[in-house]
Amino acid sequence: MEIIVLPTPEESSRIAARLVAKQIRHKPHSVLGLATGSTPLMLYRELIRMHREEGLDFSRVTTFNLDEYVGLSPEHSTSYHRYMQENLFDHINVPEKNTHIPDGLTEDIPIFCEGYEAQIQASGGIDLQVLGIGTDGHVGFNEPTSSLASRTRIKTLTRQTLSDNARFFAGDVEQPHHVLTMGIGTIMESRQVVLLAFGSGKAEAVAASVEGPISSMMPASALQFHPRTHVIIDEPAANKLAKADYYRWVYGNKPDWQQH
Ligand code: PGA
Repeated sequence: MEIIVLPTPEESSRIAARLVAKQIRHKPHSVLGLATGSTPLMLYRELIRMHREEGLDFSRVTTFNLDEYVGLSPEHSTSYHRYMQENLFDHINVPEKNTHIPDGLTEDIPIFCEGYEAQIQASGGIDLQVLGIGTDGHVGFNEPTSSLASRTRIKTLTRQTLSDNARFFAGDVEQPHHVLTMGIGTIMESRQVVLLAFGSGKAEAVAASVEGPISSMMPASALQFHPRTHVIIDEPAANKLAKADYYRWVYGNKPDWQQH
């Protein structure tokens, strides 16, 4: 794991965007795994800027999103389909047919999930997966005790996640308890992972995932087995890491050829 601790979410998102851009420039038909929530918003803003100002070309890129709420239509104000349209897809040149998000309205969930895995395989597999992390250590919506070998499937959200995400469901919009999510096994097959975390609320989950034992109780800890994961976090999210000074030192002394 590479752990990069930076002063602000802005700087962290800029490095993450550079990693994504490098991937796309190196392989224009890259397959990206994408996340939602508040964490990747600045990363998406930076990618949009790079598309507009630096010609970053998404015309051959394929995307697969991690998850979606069961029961929400793509047009629903809090669906992840809508989130992706508004925060990224409407502002870059990725062809709509190349974008994939789990279908929260599917009538046959097991068949749909099997098909989603097959589509990922058929695309050649995910080159770079963007991840946030929940305060309970989830990645995607793989809540604690998710099998570390799990594939795309239905999950029930924990009370903690429901409460963390309640802010997105204002007024009388009902918050779904069920989601479709890529599994930990699916995420582990991506060739490169960029995990972002900001704020002191994420500090415990970050420390447990990076430095704690590998356990399904802390699903992100499975990434310790991943050969190419960058954990990019701001200072508040790093404040429970025992080896934070070492990570800062390593990053500050990277040889030129290793710079992001
Ligand atoms: P957040 O969610 O980015 O809204 O904090 C992260 C997650 O649940 O994975």
